Amino acid sequence: MFRTHTCGELRAEHIGKEVTLSGWVQKSRDLGGMTFIDLRDRYGITQLAFNLEKDQALCLEARKLGREFVIQAVGTVIERSSKNQHLATGHIEIEVSSFRVLNASKTPPFTIEDQTDGGDELRMQYRYLDLRRTPVQQKLILRNKVALETRKYLDQLGFMDVETPVLIKSTPEGARDFVVPSRMNPGQFYALPQSPQTFKQLLMVSGLDRYYQIVKCFRDEDLRADRQPEFTQIDCEMAFVEQEDILQVFEGLIKHLFAAVKGIAFTEPFPRMTYDEAIHRYGSDKPDLRFGMKFNYLHALQGKGFAIFDQAETVIGIVVEGAAEYTRKQLDELTEWVKRPQIGAKGLVYVKYNADGSIKSSVDKFYSEADFQALAKEHNINAGDLLLVLSGELAKTQKQMNELRLHVAQQQGLRNTGEFCPVWVLDFPLLEKDEASGRYFAMHHPFTSPKPEDIALMDSNPGAIRANAYDLAMNGVELGGGSIRIHDRTLQEKMFALLGFTPEQAQEQFGFLMGAFEYGAPPHGGLAFGLDRLVATMSGEESIRDFIAFPKNNSGRDTMIDAPSMLEPTQLTELGINLLPNEH
Ligand code: AMO
Repeated sequence: MFRTHTCGELRAEHIGKEVTLSGWVQKSRDLGGMTFIDLRDRYGITQLAFNLEKDQALCLEARKLGREFVIQAVGTVIERSSKNQHLATGHIEIEVSSFRVLNASKTPPFTIEDQTDGGDELRMQYRYLDLRRTPVQQKLILRNKVALETRKYLDQLGFMDVETPVLIKSTPEGARDFVVPSRMNPGQFYALPQSPQTFKQLLMVSGLDRYYQIVKCFRDEDLRADRQPEFTQIDCEMAFVEQEDILQVFEGLIKHLFAAVKGIAFTEPFPRMTYDEAIHRYGSDKPDLRFGMKFNYLHALQGKGFAIFDQAETVIGIVVEGAAEYTRKQLDELTEWVKRPQIGAKGLVYVKYNADGSIKSSVDKFYSEADFQALAKEHNINAGDLLLVLSGELAKTQKQMNELRLHVAQQQGLRNTGEFCPVWVLDFPLLEKDEASGRYFAMHHPFTSPKPEDIALMDSNPGAIRANAYDLAMNGVELGGGSIRIHDRTLQEKMFALLGFTPEQAQEQFGFLMGAFEYGAPPHGGLAFGLDRLVATMSGEESIRDFIAFPKNNSGRDTMIDAPSMLEPTQLTELGINLLPNEH
């Protein structure tokens, strides 16, 4: 038997017991007559003690053990003379009577402890060592719990886990596809699914009624902290439902997960907001509601001779409570921050409503004290507050102000990682116009149904059609989204026509789905959560990378296995792919 207990298990009640432990040598300390070794496994750390006086040979052997050696130790559980309150096993240690080395280890390239000296690159290259570290393991443990509780909740509601294929034809979710050449069909390619969207709809046509799958999805898009080229969705679909049914079931799922995994109870229904309201008040379709700073539209500052505001389509201000004390330097830094190309504002105007009642602004020349006081009254600005103002074209300014709002909230410590503020964003527009090409694109995907009362607009004003589409955002992160689907061939054809497909193109790409709609497709809808984002958000982190066992870096590479990589010429030939000689 390799072990009687794990390294996280032994407590005071085990004192006197003979035990066998197996694990990795995390650290060893020689204190003259004693040698101590921290033995680690997934469950914790237990201190092994070797007494030079009692057993000199054993103690000297122990001193030869290097970091990350795998050993098995036999000994007796004894009370520690100096207890470690920070460790679950900190009351005891093992007085070792014998041990054996199960495997030696080279010195690891970085320290395998909670705080490591390893940089990102190195940790990714040796991900199997990084995964030995407790904080990283905790993330995977949390992910496992969330996945398990998801299955329990959905199973109990009659959802059925069905696997859908991975070698498919492209689904238009907006990103590029990863493609796989077919040896048996030279010159032809499969695409990896961006999501199982069309398949889950077909399962509804088949009468499966309630489907879910915790499933890998693949998107060839630019990577960010919350985006990976392969990621996991909790993908769901239901038949005979309206939007409200879906919101209820999946609000229930999120509440269940927070209760079961984090012991946090959401007692109130999640707030809801229309897309228009979210953009108007926060400049974002995934507003962070942990703090206020809603947008104020400062029309009162226009028409007073300040040309920049007078010529602007809109003037937007946010009130930073208690920030009138910002120094000149801080305000200059904020101004530089909004002028960076990533934000692209031309400048930043501020009005300080000082605690002593005086008012100081960067545009004092153009406005009287009475103007600012009227503004304070209109927008509930108090003494001690700072008003930050951006102006320009409406959509652009809303976007810039969203960034500034988040940045200032971060500075002010308002993005509290222990606080969770969900919000349903409803009534998304069905279509989005690409200004460059003048073409409409589906904002969610082409299978999303218009609101029935807006269907008439398909001929007259497609841009104004609202969709039966919804997102769940939390703390400024889009956790998931979905829609009620089109289940009628004629309407689906019309949608493809709006998106610029010829009838032949629509038939060629989606004939299978539209054909299925002609065989008794039930009304249906669904949604998908991003599992990686969900667990990262539940942990108060923005980057999803550490919540994935083997993630890709920002260039989409796995540096550990060195992928992607070149293929042998023979393999390429077999696949019918002929690269020019200098391309491989
Ligand atoms: P959508 O494209 O909104 O919807 O994706 C659903 C959720 O998946 C997560 N997500 C990602 N997570 C990590 N890396 C990525 N590259 C990435 N892309 C998306 C997000 C997102 O909210 N088929 C529809 C769902 C439906 O209509 O039922 C879909 O895929 O959390």
